[in-house]
Amino acid sequence: MRIGIYPGSFDPITLGHMDIIRRGLKLVDHLIIAVAKSPSKRTTFGPQERRDMIHESLAEMGLDLEVDLFEGLLVDYARRRGAVVIFRGLRAVSDFEFEFQMALMNKKLDPEIEVVFMAPEQEYIYLSSSLVREVASLGGQVSDLVTECVARKLYGRFQSDRR
Ligand code: PNS
Repeated sequence: MRIGIYPGSFDPITLGHMDIIRRGLKLVDHLIIAVAKSPSKRTTFGPQERRDMIHESLAEMGLDLEVDLFEGLLVDYARRRGAVVIFRGLRAVSDFEFEFQMALMNKKLDPEIEVVFMAPEQEYIYLSSSLVREVASLGGQVSDLVTECVARKLYGRFQSDRR
């Protein structure tokens, strides 16, 4: 059984992430969506909230996949889970340098685990969690960028922040 991991902060999950999940699913028997509990950046949503939003978003799309939280090195988690591949989405040239650095470091830490980059659908090339957060926090429309449950959660969070 080929196990793949799609790791990230998912703060929150966007339709761009969902697109990569659908693509990754075609390549492995079991796909684990791995949410970094404490990523290097500060997050708007806590780890459980980020995980729950992924579960709900998958359910909206009729998917039932494993969503897990992880801490520490990604390659250690991947090894523990018996994964052979890590998926990452690559949107624009601007992603490339950081992603390439990360892939090479992961390869150095564990040469057995492959990193596969996938290009999203063109309409999602510009999409990022940080832009979605910014637009939602300023009252802009995000309904075609995230699932319904994530849009609700974003507006709820930023409305309560403005109170
Ligand atoms: O969605 P993101 O924020 O781009 O995801 C980055 C993430 C969480 C995949 C990356 O920061 C990570 O793998 N963190 C775990 C710690 C680790 O293994 N660091 C070394 C990577 S070279």
